[in-house]
Amino acid sequence: MQIKFKTTQDWLTFDKDHLWHPYTSMKDPLPCYPVVGAKDVYLELADGQKLIDGMSSWWSALHGYNQEKLNEALVEQMQKMSHVMFGGIAHQPASELGARLLQITPDCFEHVFLADSGSISVEVALKMALQYWQSSGQKDKHSFLTIRGGYHGDPFTCMSVGDPDNAQHSLFPRAITKHHFVERPQTRFHENWDESDIDAFTHALESKHANIAAVIVEPIVQGAGGMHFYHPEYLRRVRALCDTHNVLLIFDEIATGFGRTGKLFAMEHANITPDILCVGKALTGGMMTLAATITTRNVAMTISSGEVPVLMHGPTFMGNPLACAVACASIDLLLQRGEGALYPQGWAHQICCIEQGLQDLRATIDHKDVKDVRILGGIGVVEMHAPVNVTSIQAALVSKGVWVRPFGNLIYIMPPYTISDEQLKTLCGAIIEVIQSADPA
Ligand SMILES: Cc1ncc(COP(=O)(O)O)c(C=O)c1O
Repeated sequence: MQIKFKTTQDWLTFDKDHLWHPYTSMKDPLPCYPVVGAKDVYLELADGQKLIDGMSSWWSALHGYNQEKLNEALVEQMQKMSHVMFGGIAHQPASELGARLLQITPDCFEHVFLADSGSISVEVALKMALQYWQSSGQKDKHSFLTIRGGYHGDPFTCMSVGDPDNAQHSLFPRAITKHHFVERPQTRFHENWDESDIDAFTHALESKHANIAAVIVEPIVQGAGGMHFYHPEYLRRVRALCDTHNVLLIFDEIATGFGRTGKLFAMEHANITPDILCVGKALTGGMMTLAATITTRNVAMTISSGEVPVLMHGPTFMGNPLACAVACASIDLLLQRGEGALYPQGWAHQICCIEQGLQDLRATIDHKDVKDVRILGGIGVVEMHAPVNVTSIQAALVSKGVWVRPFGNLIYIMPPYTISDEQLKTLCGAIIEVIQSADPA
């Protein structure tokens, strides 16, 4: 049977009746906007309206959409080989991506696992930590310690180290393994460091380290758990405490990696390195799904010298050649500078310009419904006192020609790095107008 929907309304109706979207109900779904194209920083709706994208498709499309160099890399690789299993087979795109990842991350990293999505790379990181201690003969180290307000993905292991106060923990209380949580850091990124901020973490690690395999955190920016930007000193203390108490440290840079916070990786704000690093999202410039778990020689060799000397993970689409080829092209686009480059003055300069442009959002701070405005690198957040009505606020923003997807009490943006000053003004202006016109202060 051949199925071809005749009108936009036909496939939209099918979508509404049959397709699940992220975190929505099948009975009363939130409205979906029909997108038929995406080019540069614009999403094109079926009726021809073009929206400036403020979300980079959830942190991923850092160069905007339909980038020629990424398309070329995809087509070139597709003509040679789209996918082959990674079990017993090696291929050049994977090696070239692995080499690039080791080149752009600190020297301590030597081994790369190419996972098929961000949450799987977290799953692999946690498994690496457990296997590391099993191989070291310390089988009591089977728990994880983390900070509240984190988000590491939706599979069960990732949920188990995500914020314990979110809906998932209360929905599946018996199925989620219990791990250890401490309050999230209170000292914000731009504030003076408050020494007492590390007390809860210190106490937890001192008392529980015998059972803790690893600490996992999103460095500097807690994303989906509240868009909270915390102080780099917290991470330096965490690193030192993990060393003292013989606990591995995992950084989840799936959202923050590839320049979003103003450093290539957020850990650079603290000038420290974890034992295991997860990257994803922007890895392929948002073209396709791919992530990586990167680790040190010590971790890899300890696992490989254990009773079970293999890392117990191997997804079907591990190291997909198309995704690897596109990721190589995306990293090259990001790092190239000079005439003809996408970022002639370098990506960091571009992020500085975006950070300056985002300051416009501060115009909302005097509104009675706005609790806080925070900006770091290419991320701008307006935190409201109460949860927003996503449907109505999104409709208002779309009518002003921008794409923003609020959640909870947060209206936040992280636009593609290719956004122009003028487009950024329009994007921030739409948010300001929508907040200020809702109900004047
Ligand atoms: C910090 C962090 N870790 C992990 C994930 C999960 O990645 P994915 O959705 O690719 O599985 C996300 C996704 O938003 C994330 O922000």
